[in-house]
Amino acid sequence: MNEDRYAQFRACLNDFCRRPELMVLRTNPQHRGNITYQHSRNVAIYAFYLAERWHWRVDIPSLVRGAMLHDFYLYDARAAGHGGLKHAMQHPRLALRQAQPHFVLNPVERNISLSH
Ligand SMILES: [Fe+2]
Ligand SMILES: [Fe+2]
Repeated sequence: MNEDRYAQFRACLNDFCRRPELMVLRTNPQHRGNITYQHSRNVAIYAFYLAERWHWRVDIPSLVRGAMLHDFYLYDARAAGHGGLKHAMQHPRLALRQAQPHFVLNPVERNISLSH
């Protein structure tokens, strides 16, 4: 792994995770007993690892922002009574719609949210 890119990734992830708008993800439940904040950090870490392994020269800030916002839908799917398929189909668009008032997203970041 390229140490400079890894250092850039860690700094970018840690900087973005300090955004107060992301604090709501710390109370939002995710599947398998996780919270959305930790799930999203895990997504960022795995996405970076795979991109490096496959030698994809991705834009690191976009990878981080896309990963951290891809599930910014801000509700408990189970408590809201959403079934698995309905939630799976609808939450990417809802996550993007709810993130956009708080963040200016570029086309890559919007695509990460919509296509996951
Ligand atoms: Fe998702
Ligand atoms: Fe997710």
